[in-house]
Formats: sequence, structure tokens, C-alpha cells
Amino acid sequence: MIDSKILYGGDYNPEQWPRAVWEQDYAAFDLASIDTVTLNVFSWATVQPGEDTYDFAQLDAVVARAVDGGRRIVLATSTGALPPWLAHQHPEVERTDFQGRRHVYGQRHNACPSSPVYRRLSAELAGRIAERYAGTPGLVAWHVGNEYGGFDGGCWCDLCAAGFRNWLCERYGTLARLNDAWNATFWSHTFTDWDQIVPPNMLSEHWRGPDHTAFQGITLDYRRFMSDAMLANYRDEKMRIREHDATTPVTTNFMGMFRPIDYHRWAADLDVASWDNYPPGQREHARMALAHDLMRGLKDGAPFWVMEQTPTITASRDVNPVKRPGVLRLWSWQAIAHGADAVLYFQMRQSRGACEKYHGAVLDHAGRTDTRSFREVAGLGAELAALGDAVVGARTPARVALLFDWDSWWTAEMTDGFNRHVKYPAVVLAYYRALWSAGTQVDVVPVTADLSRYDVVVAPLLHVLGGDVAERLEAVVRRGGSLLTTFWSGRADEDANAYLMDAPGPLGRVLGVRVEETDSAEPGVVNPVTLRSPVEPVETRSDATLVFEVLVPEGAEVIGTYGAEFYAGTPAVTRHRPDGPDGGAAWYVATGLDDVGVDWVVRRVLDGHGLVGPYADVPDVELAVRSKDGVRFAFVLSHSTEPVEVTAHASGVDLLTGRGVRQGEALVLNPTDVLLLREDAPEEPA
Ligand code: GLA
Ligand code: ZN
Repeated sequence: MIDSKILYGGDYNPEQWPRAVWEQDYAAFDLASIDTVTLNVFSWATVQPGEDTYDFAQLDAVVARAVDGGRRIVLATSTGALPPWLAHQHPEVERTDFQGRRHVYGQRHNACPSSPVYRRLSAELAGRIAERYAGTPGLVAWHVGNEYGGFDGGCWCDLCAAGFRNWLCERYGTLARLNDAWNATFWSHTFTDWDQIVPPNMLSEHWRGPDHTAFQGITLDYRRFMSDAMLANYRDEKMRIREHDATTPVTTNFMGMFRPIDYHRWAADLDVASWDNYPPGQREHARMALAHDLMRGLKDGAPFWVMEQTPTITASRDVNPVKRPGVLRLWSWQAIAHGADAVLYFQMRQSRGACEKYHGAVLDHAGRTDTRSFREVAGLGAELAALGDAVVGARTPARVALLFDWDSWWTAEMTDGFNRHVKYPAVVLAYYRALWSAGTQVDVVPVTADLSRYDVVVAPLLHVLGGDVAERLEAVVRRGGSLLTTFWSGRADEDANAYLMDAPGPLGRVLGVRVEETDSAEPGVVNPVTLRSPVEPVETRSDATLVFEVLVPEGAEVIGTYGAEFYAGTPAVTRHRPDGPDGGAAWYVATGLDDVGVDWVVRRVLDGHGLVGPYADVPDVELAVRSKDGVRFAFVLSHSTEPVEVTAHASGVDLLTGRGVRQGEALVLNPTDVLLLREDAPEEPA
């Protein structure tokens, strides 16, 4: 049943209004073809009003109404916010913040992950809920907790300190190994007893905030530990759910490019990846696409769910503009185009009170169904219902991998010495955006992924390089593929210590360069880089900023050169073909090229493998492909603010209109238009 269509609906919290209103709600859900409700996300205090008291009366009614309405149900465990009685009775469950202050009560995402009381009671609650509702008709998933790490990204209390010491003991075994990993002789930090170790925060290693630490190794390990500690909370609950339900998928809602948690460390424990899509601005198509691809990459390309998006406005930003007409539909199809098999909202009806009372919802406070926003929600619902199962389960046929690495993110951003203005997600996005606008399909994957199936591997700012990653990247080039990486890659090992060799460390051999100096400049200071292709007479100029590595080629050919400073005329972009002109290529970009420059490099890398898409030269037109049983589904999405004309790349049927499309036909795409082309099978040669 779950396979029969893209799930459509979202968070529904009917506890806040009278029963009579529920009937209005369900009538409206019918109008909008809403088939799925996510229940019980924040009801701990109601379901368990005291340590030894459970009261399921209200949840029973909420669930029963959903079952009566024939809805699919995503049932949450409610452990994302503590009930007041729990904090009052057991103050240890409250988290301690980065400043070292123990919180008293309030907010949500507020539990200390190491608290035995929290762990016992959250698992118990999940178990009781699973026991009661396992087997509920329509149950499609268990939703554990909510947005782990959402508040400050963790806890720095004494319980967490003890947990950290255990974690370290398991990782390093001996203090000698730990002192070595942390390079503890620096500033006289040699630890002689595990009990001397404290969490890195503003009372210990940090100044100015989370990115300024005296010991990157300590802070890196604490981030890993904290990510694992929260994962243990998720596992506690999942284990209890599995005692009562062996098969229904268990998930929790992630947040895309979210720094506090290494989602790759969690991925194996989720049965389906899901995430909440709240882009920070109105023109973030490439960033959303990147986040979708990152989430899809968590489960090796399996379809993921959009667990939340707002139908209209968010409430948490200083300024919360409404989604323009057509945008909700466009972004929803974009998610599906990138592999989503569920598009769910936060929320079905607006909260009555508290900080999200003006957050957008399918139904407003008045419950109106004659608004623009409701009509758009209903329009999309009707389209999804009509589409049925056509793309459900379909996969993305990507030949390009982009490596995303939380260790590199954490370490690069807390590293003193070069340029604090460099942000890992911005560098990754710059390269992703270029791939996206070239219309190639990209898998965003961890460094541990199998790279043998890709023609091109892009590894922006791969600062931390451990294990066999360098060898596997070299293997891509040795078998004729292309590798593209940037400044600051290959600098540090898994402990965040520098390699005792030339940068880019173990990548130097395949890249055929070494870095002699690393220059930096304030934002806005430009060094013009001239890019020259050996096979084209034209030159391109790119304004490079922030970081300028001075390179010494050791086998690589020079593709781009700096135009200013004492290193004017020296290489800024190189390409190395260790097996000669017909072999694979390793590209190195030693500086922060602007979009023009990144596009130029990325297009040339893709060109070498015939991977530039058919709409690459039409700005703001996106092509995303899924395929299933040998059939290709091409989603052509216009993010443009103007009508654009494109030439159809294939023949087929637009599944959203039923219209036939001929390859080569001119198509006009209006702003926010979506074409879902089921491509005809390529004709057999006669
Ligand atoms: C998050 C949460 C929801 C809600 C929305 C508001 O995604 O999971 O509970 O707060 O944000 O945008
Ligand atoms: Zn704690």
C-alpha cells in the first residue's frame, strides 16, 4: 500500500482544538487528496502525565479518527520535548549548554542525551506507544524524536563528560594513544588520567564560540561523540519499537546540511531517510537539490521522504515571506525529482498558540479552503493522486559523485590559521551548483561510498582525509575517471593532525602538485584567475577570493593562473593525467573561484565524459532524472522568473498533462512550470 503513490500530508496536532473541528479538518483533507498524517510529535506530557502514569485516551481518539478517515499514519514517539514533571523530578535530564549553564526547563530538543533517566523514560515511552499502536491500519512509519540536535547541537554536562570519557576509552584504548591523537604535548595537555578529560566548551578549550578551539582533535572527537550519543537515544527507542513491530520503517526527521550531527554515522539505523526542507531564502533551488541528494545518498540512493516543508510561511526567521504562486508545487516536484517518495507538510492546521501560531499550514486558524494557498495544496494533491505509483521507488542514474564529509566540515571550520570566512557548505554548494546547472545527475555520498560506479568524483574541501580514501580517489583516475578537488583538501588526518608531508598530503601523487604557501584575503579582495583550456583558444577570467594556494606542479599541467600578487602567473588550477593524455584526470582548484570559474572547470570535467545535460545552457532550468524498470522519468523544472524556450531532449509523455512530446520540439516553460516526461524507449536500430 505504501508503494501505491507519493505520500502526501504532514504533521497534524488536533489536540489543540475541539472535536468538531477535526471533522472540518478531515473534510478539507479529502478536498486536498491528503492521505497521510503525522501524529503525536510533541505529546509526551499528555501521553505520560507522570512517571508512572500513561494516558492514551487522547492519542487513541486522534489515531482512531485517522484510521476512520482511511489515512496513512506516521506515528511519532513524542520524545523531542520533555514534559515539565520530568525536568522537575529529575533535573539531570535538562541539557547543559555550550556556556556550561544547566538549563532549568523550557523549549524543546532539551534533553541531555547521556542522562540515564531520559534514556530509560524515552525508550519506555516509545515501547509503550509501539505496543499500543503496532498493527494500526495505515501505519506507514515510526517517527522517533524530532530534529535531533536542534537546540545548540548538544550537551556539555557531567553525564556527557563521563560518556565522552567512555567513548574515548573505546576509541583509543590507552591514554598514550589519546594523547598522541590530540597532539597533547602542545600547550602541556598530556592527560595522565581519564578523569582529567572535560568536554570542550566555553569553560575549557573554547573561546569566541564553537568554532574556536585550542584543540581541534578534542572538539572533533566531542562532536563525533555527541552525534553518537544522540544516535544512541534514537537506537534506544527503535529497539523498543522493534519489540512490537518487526517491519514498519523507523525514521527520524533530519535537516539536510545540518552541522551538529554526522548523518552518515546515523544512516544505517534509519529504514528510510527523511528530512525537513526549510530553505533559508526564496532562490535556493541548487541548495535544496544538494540537500535532497545528500539525503538520498544516506541510504545508497533509495528514495527518501520530505517529512516537513511549509505550505506557505515559516515562523522562525526574522522575515517570513509567503511562497509565491506555483512555488510550493515546483519545490515539491523538485523533491520528488531528486528521489522523494513522500512530500509532507509542517503542518496540517495552524497552532492555536505559542511561537509557531503564525507558521503556515494547510489550513489556517479559520480552517478556510477557499484561499490561494489551500487551492495550491489541493492542486498538488490532485496531481499526486493522478500520478499514482509511476515514479515511486525509482532511482537516480548518476555518473557523478560529490563527496560530503562531516569530519571535513567540522575540522575546516574550527581550524585557525588560514581564513575564517571559508565555510564548508558554501564551497560544496559552489561545486554542486555548477554540476546542477550543467544538468548532470549527482549522488552526494560519504567518503566511504563505493566510488567504482562513477565517472566523475568531486571532492570539494576534503580537508580531513583518512583511511583508504586517497587510494580510492586515485583509483578513479587510474581507471579513466575524473577527480576534482580543491584547496585545503588532504591537509589533515582523521585526528585532525597535519600530515607530515607536503599538502595536499596523500592526494599529492594523483594531483601532481604540491602546495608551497597558503595565502588568504579578506572577503571582496579579488585575484583574477585566467583559465585556459589546452584545446580551446578562448580564455575565461574568474574572480578568485579568500584562499590562494601557491602551487608547485609536479607532473600536472597548468589550466589556470593567478593574475595578481607575487605569485602572479603561477598555477591556480591544474590537471594531472598520470597515465598520459588518454587516461583519467585529476583536477585541482587551489583558490576560491567565483561561479564563472567553477562552472568553467566543472563543465570541462563533465565534458570529458559526455555528462553535460541537454538544458545546461538555459539558466534556472533544472533537469532531474529517476528511472525504474528501464523507464526514464525526466523532470524538467523551471526556476526561472521569465518564460524560457527549450528544445525537448527526448520523446515521451508528460505525465502531468498527458501531452505527447517529440524530441527536438520547442517547449515554452513558464516560471514554476514542471514537466514530468516519461521518456519513450530509445528506438532500436533497424
Ligand atoms: C521543524 C520542526 C517542526 C516545526 C517546524 C517549523 O521542522 O520539526 O516541529 O517546528 O520546524 O518550521
Ligand atoms: Zn549531558
